[in-house]
Amino acid sequence: MKFGYFSAKKKEYVITNPETPTPWINYLNNGKYCALISNTAGGYSFYQDPKSQRILRYRYNNIPVDRPGRYFYIRDNLSGIYWSPTWQPVGKNLDHYECHHGLGYTVINSEYDLIESNVLYFVPINDDIEIWRLNLKNKSNSEKDLTVFTYAEFCLWDAVKDQRDLQYIQNVAICDYIPQQNSINFQLAAKDLAPVAFFGTNEKIDGFDCDREKFIGLYRSESNPLVVEEGRCSNSKAIGGNPIASFQKNIKLKPMETKEITVILGVTKPNEIEPMKIINKYRTQDDIYRALGILKENWTVYLSKFHIETSNPEFDMIVNIWNQYQCKITFDWARYASYYETGIGRGIGFRDCFQDTISVCHSVPLKVRERILKLCAIQFEDGHVYHNYFPLSDSGAFPNYLNPRLQFFGDDHLWMILGVSNYLKETGDLTLLEENVRFVEGSFGTLYDHMKRAINFTNNNMGPHGFPLIGTADWNDTLQLHGPNNAGESVMVAMQFHLALLEMVEIAKIMGKKEDSVFFNQLAKKIFNHVNEHAWDGNWYIRGFTDNGKVIGSDLNKSGKIYLNTQTWAVISKIALEDRAERCLNAVKKNLVTDFGIKLLNPPYTHFDPNLNGITTFPPGLKENAAIFCHTNPWAIIAECMINRAETAWDYYTRISPATKNNMAEIHQTEPYIFSQMITGNDHPNFGAAKNSWLTGTASWTLHAATAWILGIRPSYDCMVIDPCIPSTWDKVKIQRVFRNTKYQIEILNPSHVSKGIKEIAIDGKKYSSNRIPILTSSMVHKVQIIMGKP
Ligand code: GLC
Repeated sequence: MKFGYFSAKKKEYVITNPETPTPWINYLNNGKYCALISNTAGGYSFYQDPKSQRILRYRYNNIPVDRPGRYFYIRDNLSGIYWSPTWQPVGKNLDHYECHHGLGYTVINSEYDLIESNVLYFVPINDDIEIWRLNLKNKSNSEKDLTVFTYAEFCLWDAVKDQRDLQYIQNVAICDYIPQQNSINFQLAAKDLAPVAFFGTNEKIDGFDCDREKFIGLYRSESNPLVVEEGRCSNSKAIGGNPIASFQKNIKLKPMETKEITVILGVTKPNEIEPMKIINKYRTQDDIYRALGILKENWTVYLSKFHIETSNPEFDMIVNIWNQYQCKITFDWARYASYYETGIGRGIGFRDCFQDTISVCHSVPLKVRERILKLCAIQFEDGHVYHNYFPLSDSGAFPNYLNPRLQFFGDDHLWMILGVSNYLKETGDLTLLEENVRFVEGSFGTLYDHMKRAINFTNNNMGPHGFPLIGTADWNDTLQLHGPNNAGESVMVAMQFHLALLEMVEIAKIMGKKEDSVFFNQLAKKIFNHVNEHAWDGNWYIRGFTDNGKVIGSDLNKSGKIYLNTQTWAVISKIALEDRAERCLNAVKKNLVTDFGIKLLNPPYTHFDPNLNGITTFPPGLKENAAIFCHTNPWAIIAECMINRAETAWDYYTRISPATKNNMAEIHQTEPYIFSQMITGNDHPNFGAAKNSWLTGTASWTLHAATAWILGIRPSYDCMVIDPCIPSTWDKVKIQRVFRNTKYQIEILNPSHVSKGIKEIAIDGKKYSSNRIPILTSSMVHKVQIIMGKP
């Protein structure tokens, strides 16, 4: 069943049935001010940090779902009937409804009783505000006497206290209408402790409310507020209690007459309250369209660095628009704030963010550079790192599920090396390695030194079987091998370590540090031999060892016999050479592939096991216990491309691609334009139901799998490798790629319908003998033509 369709031309997803299986949301976001909005106008906002600077409140997991939000109510004063132009929260059946989620904006068009409305929401690029603009048109042939009410419910800034410490927090707000500024301002009584939020308009208003209970009335909800029912605001202020912002505007609309109302919600500092200035900036429709135009142009530029045209328009649309868009949102907010991540604990995950940099590096390299430096400053002198980073204070922290004895994650610091090497290959900016960066203890070292210490940390923390200690966990946060011996080990980390060492060999060589490169190389060989001697189970690689030395991910186990990650990473990390690479990936095919993607392990765990902890707390088929944990599927796509099995890689891609779920959205449930963290596995009755959309490493890795491995465009230190691994049915691929500030127009022709292999290459019309395309620095657009076939 469908709830909407893609409009590739407008770069929008259009929802035509508001009753989507989960709220389908969008991010209105300039990297600092972030507003989440659903297809029926639910959602919340925050400034810089969703934990400490939450602007709009949200009741997660509420019944009814998705409350509160950014609401308009329209009341027909003749009949007393009222409705929401965004369907919710009133929920009155509309005569027409369409929600357009675009890049950074959402528009909801609707009609009720011949009153047409169009609501636009967006966050401009250059101001830390959100704009809500309502357009109304009277399509009937009689005059309408209407009243419009707005509704925004403030969070008391600190999102944790807002929910937990009611006896305190309910007594700190000051919220009132300030006539000179024509805005409702909300701040704490202790002014200096938080920003000020303002909710203003250019309209001459007919009333206001700042107190939730006065507006809604007790034993009612957002669906039937007392004030709306009665048709008149009570001009309440909130001193303590629950602050809200509601304006009343009375409107008379003649037949075919239109009226627009704009409200602006933003943040400012105490004593610097100049909402009028900013409200005036967005006075007219033209002002609004100009700001929207700038926003759209910004996204066009962002997307222009990588654009493709293949034989599969759906793939093109996901790669060109939605996947790149999702990558930027995950880069900005990691796993911090979504409809499923409550924005109160996590911060920006170190490992998550380093993975997220991989697929935005070609489009926002300066932002990636800045982020790398910030993240590296939460590394300790011995090389391990804090698990999370908090953007407001630039400080780090560990999560509360830390193993108290081993205060590190086996993998975190190694992602630094993979993220940095990706940045260096993309940009060629080796100066990054010389940057002086702080350690948590206060001393400083070059970034290269930070990377070396990351290597040393793993090297110095090996377990009894010679594999890296897992610490609190590795990539799999729920594989918690905690115990009295402090001896849980991770084979996945050993594989990551191997790849990190190979990257360090190259970096050390480029920097002329011969001794280092010899050291890294020797260590890499040692790990290679060790893993191949001690982690090969016969048909695949094992996953690790528990604290008391029992093997995990072996045919000897009853549950969790085979784990996906140590097969894909064996290939990605170049631990598995030809025969084993094929064998372990065949084992994946045989044991883990389902209709909707590849499971994380099989068979699932069926009861709690204190030696494994977290992973065995989930019922079979959910989360890390044998769900299709989408984040890991692109690793299988990459691995398949690495062993030249294009058809399998493509098959795996389509199994998780959200666009392939548009026609079965009632099963998939989450947004068909966005990857979700997981899809329920086939050991669960709801097989195929996706969960936790938007903030997931799936975004970055799937884009990387598609662009660097299926399409085969891979930046390197001194060239750009082109090595497509595509479905053999494709005739042609066109790619526009900006690399080191130069635009390459790449055309891949596939006349003999192969899936791999290059017969001929030409650069700007001249034959070239290698698929390692040199770095061309002239300002012209360079044309690269590739003819696939037998060399
Ligand atoms: C979540 C975490 C991520 C972890 C993954 C697997 O997505 O954000 O860091 O790697 O789960 O446990």
